[in-house]
Amino acid sequence: MNHKVAFSFADGKTLFFEAGANELLLDAALRNGVNIPLDCREGVCATCKGRCESGQYTLDYVDDEALSERDLAQRKILACQTRLQSDATFSFDFDSSLCNAAGTQTVQGVVTDIELISPSTAILHLDASATEQQVDFLPGQYARIQVPGTSQWRSYSFANRPNSRNQLQFLIRLLPDGAMSNFLRERCQPGMTLEFEAPLGSFYLRQVDKPLVLVAGGTGLSAFLGMLDELAEEGGRGHPVQLFYGVTQDADVCELQRLDSYRSRIPGFEYQTIVSQPSQQWQGKVGYIPQYFDVAQLERQPFDIYMCGPPPMVEAIKGWLDEQGLHRFNMYYEKFVDSNSKQ
Ligand code: FES
Repeated sequence: MNHKVAFSFADGKTLFFEAGANELLLDAALRNGVNIPLDCREGVCATCKGRCESGQYTLDYVDDEALSERDLAQRKILACQTRLQSDATFSFDFDSSLCNAAGTQTVQGVVTDIELISPSTAILHLDASATEQQVDFLPGQYARIQVPGTSQWRSYSFANRPNSRNQLQFLIRLLPDGAMSNFLRERCQPGMTLEFEAPLGSFYLRQVDKPLVLVAGGTGLSAFLGMLDELAEEGGRGHPVQLFYGVTQDADVCELQRLDSYRSRIPGFEYQTIVSQPSQQWQGKVGYIPQYFDVAQLERQPFDIYMCGPPPMVEAIKGWLDEQGLHRFNMYYEKFVDSNSKQ
């Protein structure tokens, strides 16, 4: 049985290919035109070193000069000595350009719907089924979409998981006067074709081997919808998942039905919605996300924390973790600013 492989690089590009059962990872990569740097091919030089971010694998020979015990515990691998036992994702510290392979693809998608789900938020639905291959990406990654009729591109996280029908979603913040925002409000119609580049970014769901804390600021929720779709599809990965979803105003809150649906589809999934400047009608939680973290729980057990939102939110939470003296966690984050529309 073949296994699906994703290689994620330091420049944010990701390459996808298939590896045969028992095939060495390096051989599979080379066979698919992904020419990762190599030297000895014998597990000694560490030139082909990477890290397995998700999936199961075995290693043939590994010289202890190439990978230490600590490296092995951190799931570092040598591509020339790795064989897969499942689909897997690997990260490398060098740029994709070193591999002399194409990576990002440019794709056309037809607009099937624009849901204006709040005054400040829309969900754009694209049908890219005319593209022969599946539009591959890791849940959490983003695409750059061209604003039609302009030379401007805007970046948005996929709000669902990759699928063979190439039906794609993006959660988009509508700015009072932004190129994409104006297009979506004023001109975008079902049937229009948009061009986009994908996949991009190094924010994606890694191996889940401890509880997950997900922190979404505003339309940063988009990346988590993709990850949660993936977890729901698999029936969870055996660890609790807590999502903290923070917005400025209650009118910005969206996709609650979808979040509710994950409760029955992902064992151990819970979420909280927190509004920092609520209206009088808002009856839910008020304030900022760290106020709602359970410090005792975070102290008790190692966890992985993923954050996607505006830079002040990400920095505030990093500062809070530091102040609490919490150290037993892995942290992954994506910051975006509206002017660049990395959402
Ligand atoms: S090429 Fe030398 S360790 Fe893989």
